[in-house]
Amino acid sequence: MRPTHVLICMMTGLSASFPIQPPLPSTVNSTNWTGYPTRTLANVTVIDTPLVRDALAFTRKHSSDEVWNHVMRGWLYGALILEDNDTLRATVDPEVHALAAIMHDLGFDQTPSSPIVSADRRFEIDGAIAARDFISHHGTQESWPERRMQLVWDAIALHSQASIYAYKEPDVAAVGNGVSADFTAPAVFGIPEQAYAAVLQEFPKVDLLGSVEQTFFWLCQTKPATTYDTFLQPWGERLVPGYSAVGHRGMDMILENLEQ
Ligand SMILES: *[C@@H]1O[C@H](CO)[C@@H](O)[C@H](O)[C@H]1NC(C)=O
Ligand SMILES: *[C@@H]1O[C@H](CO)[C@@H](O)[C@H](O)[C@H]1NC(C)=O
Ligand SMILES: *[C@@H]1O[C@H](CO)[C@@H](O)[C@H](O)[C@H]1NC(C)=O
Ligand SMILES: *[C@@H]1O[C@H](CO)[C@@H](O)[C@H](O)[C@H]1NC(C)=O
Repeated sequence: MRPTHVLICMMTGLSASFPIQPPLPSTVNSTNWTGYPTRTLANVTVIDTPLVRDALAFTRKHSSDEVWNHVMRGWLYGALILEDNDTLRATVDPEVHALAAIMHDLGFDQTPSSPIVSADRRFEIDGAIAARDFISHHGTQESWPERRMQLVWDAIALHSQASIYAYKEPDVAAVGNGVSADFTAPAVFGIPEQAYAAVLQEFPKVDLLGSVEQTFFWLCQTKPATTYDTFLQPWGERLVPGYSAVGHRGMDMILENLEQ
């Protein structure tokens, strides 16, 4: 069954207030890092496979300028976290990390009639499903056994839940940490200040808070049932007039059924 697609009328907050970042800035190529081709982006070494490039193009098409820059920063911060840690470099699959980081916010797609955004699933799950679909239709399935696919799926589905992803596979944790680093000071994740600043220069934060609030408003307004009992609930209470989770929370269900 295809999900009902949500038609979006909240586009005004998304008009570009700065030039669109070129999807693939200038690169220096080499082949290294566990045998994958790499290039440098904002002075960070990143994996550079056709699948990663296609995921970038796909994500650019389904992201506002603000979300795109956030996604790129989250990927690059994650790559920096991996780069500085021998244990992580030896264990994390860089293509799994790249694809999950790049596609982690596909559930924010506000393009009209988005084929990604459902009416009834939380945005993280829309993103995880879209990423799985994207990879499985790419024609590289033989290098994508279910295990790798599941890591991408979990990394996207859990990226907003630090108290869970931190205990998952290092690939999953790296995606969440890279994304979280966009909302913290560089030192929190041990990213050198100069490297953090170079990423910001290439992919600037322009009104990140305004963009976050517009996106959370849209999600809490258009599909509130997917936000109750999640980190979005307090944003709904703060931003959306008339929004109330009361009666829809796990607590309400338990009280209703168990209270004498
Ligand atoms: C890097 O690789 C891309 C695609 O394979 C190619 O178009 C580009 O010219 C290369 N850049 C350098 C500096 O070799
Ligand atoms: C990566 O670079 C290092 C040092 O330059 C080299 O020893 C190693 O063989 C390279 N690995 C690959 C897969 O090319
Ligand atoms: C780029 O990164 C290297 C370390 O990987 C650092 O030594 C160099 O200063 C950085 N360059 C810039 C312009 O930030
Ligand atoms: C490398 O990452 C692992 C897993 O997150 C962590 O336990 C370890 O402390 C890190 N090592 C360094 C040197 O930061």
